Amino acid sequence: MEKAKLMVLDHPLIQHKLTHIRDKRTGPKEFRELVEELALLMAYEVTRDLPLQEVEVETPVAPAKGRTIAGKKLAVVPILRAGLGMVNGILKLIPTAKVGHIGIYRDPETLQAVDYYCKLPEDIEERDIILVDPMLATGVSAVASIKFLKEKGARSIKLVCLIAAPEGIEAVSKAHPEVEIFVGAVDECLNEHAYIVPGLGDAGDRLYGTK
Ligand code: URA
Repeated sequence: MEKAKLMVLDHPLIQHKLTHIRDKRTGPKEFRELVEELALLMAYEVTRDLPLQEVEVETPVAPAKGRTIAGKKLAVVPILRAGLGMVNGILKLIPTAKVGHIGIYRDPETLQAVDYYCKLPEDIEERDIILVDPMLATGVSAVASIKFLKEKGARSIKLVCLIAAPEGIEAVSKAHPEVEIFVGAVDECLNEHAYIVPGLGDAGDRLYGTK
């Protein structure tokens, strides 16, 4: 099997904040803040390869040569609903990015992924896409979302997740070997309910206090 294009972001701030969101005593307010901060820190790493162009500016003292990002168009696409928790953190760093949304559920009879909501920027095929979902568990949603984005013309997709299971990484890299996967941690396994072990529980419920 092709080797996964996996980047585990081991920056101390990322690891520190991840540990706090794993803690079951962390309530929704703090959980949301930490997820946003984690997304911002991860976006910093994910955008490391953005192309630059040389420009000149006048400082109060003298002309200076500088570099700015060379007009790259980005789109952040959260997988509903937990992915929403990561959007604002990324937008703080890249405020000009457009935001698309994908809602996917798994049909209990066919076990196939079905998209129930999709709204993407019109020029999605011209944008580099940062697809976000805090938990990469079985990979079903991520694989289906990437397939869906490709059908809409997407040509460049990076997947950003806070915590991944080996099963999810394998599923994504098998179905979409060119997609780079950025994670804060790779955990042990999935349990019988497809929760990541040790993980952090249900990211959507913890973000929105629904359980
Ligand atoms: N989704 C979650 O929110 N948590 C998991 O552990 C797996 C999938």
